[in-house]
Amino acid sequence: MKGRFITFEGPDGSGKTTQIKLAEQYLKQKGFEVLTTFEPGGTGIGKKIRAILLDKSNLEMTDKTETLLFLASRAQLTEKIIKPALKSHQMVLCDRFFDSTIAYQGIARGLGAQRMLDFSLWATGGLVPDLTFVFHMKPGIGLERKSRQGRPKDRLESQEDDFMQKVCQGYREVAERFKERIVSIDGEKDIQAVFAIIRDKINGLIG
Ligand code: TMP
Repeated sequence: MKGRFITFEGPDGSGKTTQIKLAEQYLKQKGFEVLTTFEPGGTGIGKKIRAILLDKSNLEMTDKTETLLFLASRAQLTEKIIKPALKSHQMVLCDRFFDSTIAYQGIARGLGAQRMLDFSLWATGGLVPDLTFVFHMKPGIGLERKSRQGRPKDRLESQEDDFMQKVCQGYREVAERFKERIVSIDGEKDIQAVFAIIRDKINGLIG
């Protein structure tokens, strides 16, 4: 069986990272080779780009610079890590992919959803996930969760309050537009209930 590419998306603090760990364990128990990675990052160059993107002192960063950095990190990750893993029949789980660029830069920043999709497809040579889970939650809850864990806010989390509201709305639009690929998850449900949905959808994909 050829490798499958599964992505996890949602506003900051929506619980996707916990679910990726559960999905990884589940697939490994079933005997699959699994590669778990994340954006921005996932490669040496990507980690350096991530540091620039999240650095709170980079206040002068323009929206276009931000977009191009996310795309550069994605191009590197796709070419060097994701495509080779898929070619060697691995299951690839990725914490964020191009739906983040559509929701954050395309919709919340207002740079245009279609343009962000086109740029992303150019950056990745047309790679589209086989399955995507989008975690939805009320604006504010995710960041509250993160601050309870004692984690300081990064540059993107420090945007004005209505930015996260626009991101949440952006994800709703993305989920509506790509219904055939995206499964919407209520990020406020408990961990096991959410994982039951994810497990069923993954079983549907792997047959
Ligand atoms: P993370 O904290 O989930 O690792 O993601 C880093 C931040 O970058 C998060 O606030 C979401 C944001 N982001 C974008 O704005 N556009 C993108 O394309 C990606 C991948 C992430």
